[in-house]
Amino acid sequence: MSHFDEGILVTGSNGFIGAKVVEVLLKYGCRNIRCFVRPASQRDRLNAILLRLKAADKVKIVTGDLRTPADCVRAVRDVSLVYHLAAGFGKSFDDAFTNSAVATQNLLEAFAAHGKPRRFVNVSSFAVYSNFRMERGAPLDEMSPIEESPEERFDAYTFGKLKQEEIVRDIGRARGIPFIILRPGTVFGPGNRDLPGGSVSAYLDSSST
Ligand SMILES: NC(=O)c1ccc[n+]([C@@H]2O[C@H](COP(=O)([O-])OP(=O)(O)OC[C@H]3O[C@@H](n4cnc5c(N)ncnc54)[C@H](OP(=O)(O)O)[C@@H]3O)[C@@H](O)[C@H]2O)c1
Repeated sequence: MSHFDEGILVTGSNGFIGAKVVEVLLKYGCRNIRCFVRPASQRDRLNAILLRLKAADKVKIVTGDLRTPADCVRAVRDVSLVYHLAAGFGKSFDDAFTNSAVATQNLLEAFAAHGKPRRFVNVSSFAVYSNFRMERGAPLDEMSPIEESPEERFDAYTFGKLKQEEIVRDIGRARGIPFIILRPGTVFGPGNRDLPGGSVSAYLDSSST
């Protein structure tokens, strides 16, 4: 961050991780944060944070749907940094593709044309790794192979996240947007304390970023 007044957009800002990202940015001192939510979003997590930190004046709520290009344009105008956390979690491939991949394409195109792109942070998932060709018990890490056939494994979420990453790399390079792709393991902490057995995990507490 070079300036705390820089425009920052957080998508999925009322989500489990997104709300925490907003909280951490506010604690860092950022005061020009745009929080993207869908019209039907409960906004419970976000509202609780804004109330607790008395930060309503540092945040602008942008309502829309990332599947709609015009909503993305409204969201990114004058924004230089995007934390993209919105994603499709539905069981259908159609849901995963539109909410993870099409939404990301719309957002990147809008960012390139109407934003002031300095960095696009894409939150992907360790779900894109595959243990299909790995030895039983071998650790899954950044060097593990990427899933090649999510459709054959009926894994709509992974399909959406792989397509999302592809789009970030393609459009990021073509339009000159500096980007980074993060692949967290299962995240747990306040708001989601259940930890599936044997999973790769990241703990989200009040001091983590
Ligand atoms: N939780 C984990 O353990 C974990 C692990 C690895 C990676 N991740 C990744 O981290 C990110 C955040 O995950 P999370 O657990 O915080 O998810 P979450 O609580 O379900 O939040 C996801 C958000 O995406 C938004 N969204 C979905 N489709 C949208 C669309 N078409 N337009 C605008 N917003 C849309 C929803 O917004 P509304 O609230 O407005 O409906 C929701 O708040 C995701 O990209 C996920 O793949 C999560």
